[in-house]
Amino acid sequence: MKIGIPKEIVKGETRVALIPSMVSALIKMNHEVLVEKGAGAESSFSDQEYEQAGAVIIKNAQELFKRAEVILKVQPPEMNEADLLNEGGTFIGFLAPLNNLDLVKKFIDRKITAFAMEFVPRISRAQSMDALSAMATVSGYKAILIAANMLGKMFPLLMTAAGTIPPANVLILGAGVAGLQAIASAKRMGARVEAFDPRPAVREQVQSLGATFIEMELPEEDVETEGGYAREQSEAFLVKEQEAIANRLPKTDVVISTAQIFGKKAPLLITEEMVKLMPEGSVIIDLAAEQGGNCELTEAGKTVEKHGVKIFGAVNLPATVPVHASQMYSKTITNLFKQLFKEDKLNFEDEITQKSCITHQGKVVNELVASTLNKGGK
Ligand code: NAI
Repeated sequence: MKIGIPKEIVKGETRVALIPSMVSALIKMNHEVLVEKGAGAESSFSDQEYEQAGAVIIKNAQELFKRAEVILKVQPPEMNEADLLNEGGTFIGFLAPLNNLDLVKKFIDRKITAFAMEFVPRISRAQSMDALSAMATVSGYKAILIAANMLGKMFPLLMTAAGTIPPANVLILGAGVAGLQAIASAKRMGARVEAFDPRPAVREQVQSLGATFIEMELPEEDVETEGGYAREQSEAFLVKEQEAIANRLPKTDVVISTAQIFGKKAPLLITEEMVKLMPEGSVIIDLAAEQGGNCELTEAGKTVEKHGVKIFGAVNLPATVPVHASQMYSKTITNLFKQLFKEDKLNFEDEITQKSCITHQGKVVNELVASTLNKGGK
């Protein structure tokens, strides 16, 4: 197949969908790889490296889209990019389809077969295609570095001739992929770490990383979906959770909040009143900023200072670590591509194809996207 890799055009996006080593892997499988000039420049992969890997460099997006049968991207296409897709062609990348219904409609009109990286099922067989986990790993790590940079204190316990410095207290809310990586990174830097997540399975994972799991009466109802995601918690539980968090905030230097509910607004875990409890100069890094934020005062893409607390509304942290984020993304998208096209035809009996496919032959394949579209949006 002819696979095209455009340069990402969304502001601030530095990643590239395929790095040169993955180009070689696809060429060995008899595919042809076309790469737009400069596509890897912001993630430090030169056109020359792509050429050495066997790719053909194409001078602009128009020509690339025209010649490619399959487009691999990081960000969902902008409308002008979607117009360039060949009718009946294939697109694989992040799509956020529930928030991009106009794009889904365009895919239907133009009979695009579109696969969303966010909808790859979280089953063992698809772990190597799980771009969400790969990117969450990068975000969790980077969140700690940003927090350490913003905090006017050091993380480790230091006993020096100039006095004793106590370790920083870090609180992690939500111990999924990003949260666990944040715990590991904070521990490596010597902080004292506590964490909470309503999924009971997480307790051991938190403890095995050397952090304290905040004990709280966990919800009685089933807290996890079949896919391993947290369900939306009841208002009553969230109130209890807020109380438990509030008890810790007067002694907390850094909060990393990562709590999310797939396809929904993020739960509110820190109200403005609770921010007031934190020490002067403390820091909140809100990784759920784009989903509405776990903190009431978060503004996505900005750092605000309220009641003496710095609140960072994190947006696209993986793009701040473009080399490794591209490397990891590239691996997951290549694995998904190989899985989808391992037979001559797409196999819709396979769970991975079925769940990750959003549109095919002018129809919406994914049930959640179809019902959201029928309701005219969320
Ligand atoms: P996510 O980004 O959707 O959410 C982050 C975390 O927030 C989750 O751990 C969730 O339980 C937590 N959360 C939700 N409501 C909360 C609340 N009120 N308070 C505190 N925390 C709250 O989740 P992520 O990191 O994408 O993955 C979640 C889980 O999915 C993983 O930990 C794992 O169990 C499962 N998974 C399974 C995979 C597989 O088997 N292939 C691959 C990746 C994830």
